[in-house]
Amino acid sequence: MLLVVSCMNTSERIIVPLDVPTLEEAIALVEGLDQVRFWKVGLELFVSTGPKILEVLKTHSKRIFLDLKLHDIPNTIAGACRVAGSFGIDLLTIHATSGRDALKAATEAVQAGAAASGVKPPKLIAVSLLTSISSRQLAFDLKIPLELPEYTLEMALMAQEMGLDGAVCSPQEVAQLRQTCGDDFVLVCPGIRPTWSDVDDQKRVFTPAQALHSGADYLVIGRPITASTNPELAWKRICDELITVP
Ligand code: C5P
Repeated sequence: MLLVVSCMNTSERIIVPLDVPTLEEAIALVEGLDQVRFWKVGLELFVSTGPKILEVLKTHSKRIFLDLKLHDIPNTIAGACRVAGSFGIDLLTIHATSGRDALKAATEAVQAGAAASGVKPPKLIAVSLLTSISSRQLAFDLKIPLELPEYTLEMALMAQEMGLDGAVCSPQEVAQLRQTCGDDFVLVCPGIRPTWSDVDDQKRVFTPAQALHSGADYLVIGRPITASTNPELAWKRICDELITVP
């Protein structure tokens, strides 16, 4: 069977992180890689620039994943989500371990914030478990008596029950989450490496094609593109590899 993914479609599904500390460096990346449609703003850049970077991205007509990984009490989460909901962004992350009440407050607050500003609300995406946590740490440091895949699934299901739109997960977990949570649940996968690039500090990687085949909606791919000697070529290679996957 031949999977044909149009390059337009593919480019919408690859999210490139702006893992830089300043507005100037972020602008240089965005302007240098005009083909990228979807950018991720993480904690480092958002702490540095605040919403300014979001304005820059909107000026360039880019889609935005605001990866703040919120984690707090329901009232504080609701306040942050109301503001984030007003930004006109596409995806926003919150830790599932914030708990049921905070997750519910978050879903209501992004809708309220977006409605008050007349923008589309972002999809609210749960962080089930940081991929930097190993099974050993889960058991011995966090004292959680579940196997890692089982725990991740439980967190994703709780988030779904509380009205969240999706989850961030490692590519190893995506097939199981897709099967259990259904087609409408948005699955975002970091830990992606083309066969020709360095693995860096990611532990168990999938190629872009493997992750899409396993059921991912969006792939977060950073250093294989941004740290490449030729980022434009790296981007093109990834898109080309996804256009025709045997
Ligand atoms: O450069 P690389 O492709 O490893 O970048 C992956 C991006 O995804 C980084 O911004 C990293 O913080 C983020 N991320 C991750 N693992 C998670 C959640 C986010 O690698 N579980």
